[in-house]
Amino acid sequence: MAKDGTSLPPYFNIDPDSALADLDLPTGSEDFEAIAQACAQGRADLASRGLNSEGQKSLRLFSTWEITRYLIPVAQAHFRRVLKQNPDLPQGQSETEGGAKWFSLDEVLRLRAFFGVQGSKSKNYLPYRPEGQPAKLVAVANFKGGVGKTSTAAHLAMSAALDGYKVLVVDLDSQGSMTSIFSGRVEDEWQTAFPLLARHYGEYLRIENQRRLDRGDPPQPLDDTLSAALEMTAEDVIQKTHWPNIDLIGAQLNLYWAEFQIPVWRMQARGWKLWDALSDRLAADGVLENYDLVFIDTPPALGYLTINGLSAADILLVPLGASFLEFDSTGRFFDMLHSTFASIEDGENVAARALGRPEMAFEWDAVRAVITRYDGAQQGELSALMQAYLGKTLSPHRQDFTALIGQAGEQVSGIYEADYRDFNRETYARGRETFDATYAAFKRLLIGVWRRDELAAKQAAE
Ligand SMILES: Nc1ncnc2c1ncn2[C@@H]1O[C@H](COP(=O)(O)OP(=O)(O)OP(=O)(O)O)[C@@H](O)[C@H]1O
Ligand SMILES: [Mg+2]
Repeated sequence: MAKDGTSLPPYFNIDPDSALADLDLPTGSEDFEAIAQACAQGRADLASRGLNSEGQKSLRLFSTWEITRYLIPVAQAHFRRVLKQNPDLPQGQSETEGGAKWFSLDEVLRLRAFFGVQGSKSKNYLPYRPEGQPAKLVAVANFKGGVGKTSTAAHLAMSAALDGYKVLVVDLDSQGSMTSIFSGRVEDEWQTAFPLLARHYGEYLRIENQRRLDRGDPPQPLDDTLSAALEMTAEDVIQKTHWPNIDLIGAQLNLYWAEFQIPVWRMQARGWKLWDALSDRLAADGVLENYDLVFIDTPPALGYLTINGLSAADILLVPLGASFLEFDSTGRFFDMLHSTFASIEDGENVAARALGRPEMAFEWDAVRAVITRYDGAQQGELSALMQAYLGKTLSPHRQDFTALIGQAGEQVSGIYEADYRDFNRETYARGRETFDATYAAFKRLLIGVWRRDELAAKQAAE
């Protein structure tokens, strides 16, 4: 106790010998393995708690209330009447005799399709996608860590799926958080986006080798990795998830290898457009026809994988918290985006300029910063300032901090997977509202850019 009766702060009077007694032996690199194994066992334990009897994650059921409130906008009585009149439609299951009916998402999708065909045309039962237009690719990126990239991408993917879109999620982060959320199983880099990038390079090398042969130069050998990748398509690395209309290209630690491999390839073939690899392969393998939306989650770094994800994207979302440090760092991220992409353009356009040919330029349909984990009581002023400086670039909707995300439990990832009966209705409604509003702001952007493309295509055809 200090003289005035208050105790000393805890960092005073630490006895060196008792501090020594608490220590264990110095840590060597092999000890990291043991720590990693302990984490892996704990993770497997946690992950297994949410699994069904086949050892797979399963998606919860949806109640009539939730379906008519959030998914298919019809009155409950009308919904029940339509089901009764159409015994071939899914009828749902109830836990008790005469109790509320619950449906799987697959069943909800069938019901929505039915209402879409039979129901009133004035209601949007089926989400908008203009005929003949390819899927939109959405990258979520910021080199600052922990700003809500993965949470935002995962929630948008889920709300788009609930809305009836067919979604592909691409995890470019070797931390694999997105892959865990969608319970992906990834053994090694061959089940990630890596072979798609390798194939793109392999194909470039083949063409380049033909040119070399024509010139009388020896070709560059295609190693085993490239030969194997040349046989692979997006379909080989896309896996199903526990969501019927969300598929996944997963990630795992080995994907990080790409950060070392890509620059080596580029050194060997200066003409290889590494930034086009992902988008070219997804397009060539039909992904843009087979899906409505592709969400790309990126690591907290502006490495080669992120550059690939960014240049593939039509829409770029940059999550950030309304704090000085995150605002500051996000400004620098945009600065890095500018110098990175401008320097690629410069390098590519040297020849075009000399020959008077059209120059290449990167272009995104829309770029939006999104405030995440927003606390209105503390961050109103700072976010207003950010809004004033960023203008339209900052999405007007701020995604609130919600305890639902951390609390949802080990077997569910976020609000859309949680059963609302596990929460106080009001907490649930508020948490859901903020992510629904994030989705609404995104969907408005999406529909706008699709509409712009649709009108441009019409004009071009005239
Ligand atoms: N709206 C929210 N309310 C409360 N917590 C949130 C919210 N959004 C994200 N979080 C939490 O913030 C943390 C970081 O989120 P997330 O993993 O999505 O960030 P990230 O940018 O993908 O991180 P990394 O850079 O490591 O990839 C997580 O613990 C997540 O649960
Ligand atoms: Mg992340």
